[in-house]
Amino acid sequence: MPATVIVGAQWGDEGKGKIVDLLAQHSDVVCRYNGGPNAGHTILVGDETYKLRHLPAGILSGKDCVIGAGCVVDPGSLCEELDGLEARGFSTERLHLSGNAHVVMPWHLAIDQASERRLGKLRIGTTRRGIGPTYADKSYRLGIRVQDLLDPKILRQKIEVALAEKNLWLERVYGADPVELEELAARSEEHAQRLRPYIADTSLLVDRALRDGKQVLFEGAHGTLLDIDHGTYPFVTSSPTVAGGATTGIGIGPTRIDSVLGVAKAYLTRVGEGPFPTEIEGPDQERVRELGGEYGTVTGRERRCGWLDLVGLRYAARLSGFTALALTKLDVLSAFAELPVCVRYRLPSGEETADFPAHQSDFHAAEPVYEVLPGWEEPIGEAEELSDLPDAARRYVAFVEEHLEVPVTLVGTGAERERVLSSSGGVAASLAH
Ligand code: GDP
Ligand code: IMO
Ligand code: MG
Repeated sequence: MPATVIVGAQWGDEGKGKIVDLLAQHSDVVCRYNGGPNAGHTILVGDETYKLRHLPAGILSGKDCVIGAGCVVDPGSLCEELDGLEARGFSTERLHLSGNAHVVMPWHLAIDQASERRLGKLRIGTTRRGIGPTYADKSYRLGIRVQDLLDPKILRQKIEVALAEKNLWLERVYGADPVELEELAARSEEHAQRLRPYIADTSLLVDRALRDGKQVLFEGAHGTLLDIDHGTYPFVTSSPTVAGGATTGIGIGPTRIDSVLGVAKAYLTRVGEGPFPTEIEGPDQERVRELGGEYGTVTGRERRCGWLDLVGLRYAARLSGFTALALTKLDVLSAFAELPVCVRYRLPSGEETADFPAHQSDFHAAEPVYEVLPGWEEPIGEAEELSDLPDAARRYVAFVEEHLEVPVTLVGTGAERERVLSSSGGVAASLAH
């Protein structure tokens, strides 16, 4: 089974980084197919904590790593990430960066920030990393791409052309400071020199790896409900986050994908604005946040916390075609005597549905209908097998499997790399589901 997509099944921060890091140890190539420095993947290895933004988690196990055409790259932030890992003794030589990926420029950051300010109460709650404006320019065919970094003259020319327009916007529309050409051209050339050795034809590289029978992982950033087409628009990110995005974001055909592993928390979080039917009201919100350490990796913002939403999760399974699920952070629920799980939504018409509403206004007004499962109220961090889990914890996992009709092959019981329980066949077997 050489090609597996690993995709967030909720609103991001499901623990994808940790799962990819684990599976990377059984793989040859790990590819990021969407997003940019709006992603934040925290990985614990021994006493060390790593926070990755652009880099696929395979970088920690020395695998070939790809940043695909569907990604956006902030050169300064990527250079920092590379320097940080090198300073900690990791080689970054096996990173391959698509020339077709788009570059986040300082005006994208400035516009993202200014536009959020202007929207006020209607803001999206973006990470303010310039993601939306960069993808907008890509679609508008005004973007600067990684391959433009290869030639200093072309790079300068493109910056000059773009700035002529962007500075007008910044000054006249947003009342923000303009970007200074000379200073930016010099800084961009510095970053370009650092990044040039990594630029490669990554579609070809991945195709060859697949032909050679190598195990390739496709790491999705964010989560399915943040997908630009199918997510909870407009409170979404600007890239395709569903598993299908792996094929366009890397440049391989859909027939090359063998399996799709969804990653979901045993509860739910959301950062930023937007409807959230199972958001917890009352002190349990804060309890889940504290126990789960639910603070954004990128922005440090408090994550909003809620109970598991199987309506949303079934929708994600549909959109991404999960063949298996990793259920993370089950340990966080150990503190609760009762665990509400949302199985249907009640719509304003009074109708109850287990299918995710197709229209924004229905989703906005949806009330969760819960089934309350018993908690286990004991720590599970020491379990070595799924069968070691308390009965109520196993029932919780089985409940998810039954509702999704997808096997749960991995269960997270702690943040550390080794705190994952796997169904029969071990961790590597979850790649073959
Ligand atoms: P990602 O964006 O999907 O990679 O997730 P983040 O890294 O942003 O957030 C997940 C957080 O949960 C990280 O701090 C992980 O170290 C942590 N984590 C992952 N899996 C588990 C788990 O099974 N239990 C606990 N307690 N923490 C986990
Ligand atoms: P990882 O990969 C959680 C959210 C932002 C905001 C919306 C749009 O760590 O799971 P953007 O800056 O992308 O334009 O913001 O999307 N968002 C995420 N939330 N985890 C992420 O990534 C996210 N990436 C974007 O909070 O609501
Ligand atoms: Mg994250």
